[in-house]
Amino acid sequence: MRRKLAAGNWKMNGTATALAELETLAAAGAQAQTDVLICPPSTLISRAAAISGSVAIGGQDCHANASGAHTGDISAEMLKDAGASHVILGHSERREDHGEADADVRSKATAAWSAGLISVICVGESLAEREADNTLDIIGGQLAGSIPDEATGENLVVAYEPIWAIGTGKVPTMSQIGEVHDFMRTQLEMRFGEGVGRSVRLLYGGSVKPSNATEIFAVSNVDGALVGGASLKAADFSAIITALDAA
Ligand code: PGA
Repeated sequence: MRRKLAAGNWKMNGTATALAELETLAAAGAQAQTDVLICPPSTLISRAAAISGSVAIGGQDCHANASGAHTGDISAEMLKDAGASHVILGHSERREDHGEADADVRSKATAAWSAGLISVICVGESLAEREADNTLDIIGGQLAGSIPDEATGENLVVAYEPIWAIGTGKVPTMSQIGEVHDFMRTQLEMRFGEGVGRSVRLLYGGSVKPSNATEIFAVSNVDGALVGGASLKAADFSAIITALDAA
């Protein structure tokens, strides 16, 4: 039985005043069946971890090296030291803005595991790839290239985030989400064996809101969500958590 996961990605949003939203989430307490994760900007991680209660805290990226001359970067050890338990890797905005390839994501995931962090590895097709009917090829390639061999149900979460659905208000049909999630489950089972493949949690991400959460969470092999915009306000994110806990 996979525990559900509601993960919020604040992206490059939030200064100290945003911590009030996290305090509201933390005050709501633990959910019966759903883990809750917030990934604030790295400047807020240690302050967030100090007030987050049962809400886990994660980074949004890490470097593949543990330390060294990498100006502006942050290592997995540093995230862990600041109080993070998770790190998002290979988000499409990292892949686009910073030219991250699957091999980079894979190295970062290995670094995250060495530091004791859970990796939330993101995959997703562009609109052009979807329209060319290449979605499953793209997702299969990203899974194969981005996930290291040492994956387990404890150290890995995979997020399917169609690039064209992120921040756009556009959401795939439920059958499109189901097709990709079933495919990802099969790919993981084939590569890592049924035990591991069945235990990795698969999140959907891309314009998840309180108004569409219930139908998305009813789709097979959707174990939760990676939420951008709607995670910035505790009221919206709480409604998504409630929908997931009830699914
Ligand atoms: P969104 O972002 O919920 O704002 O569409 C999702 C994501 O990028 O993780």
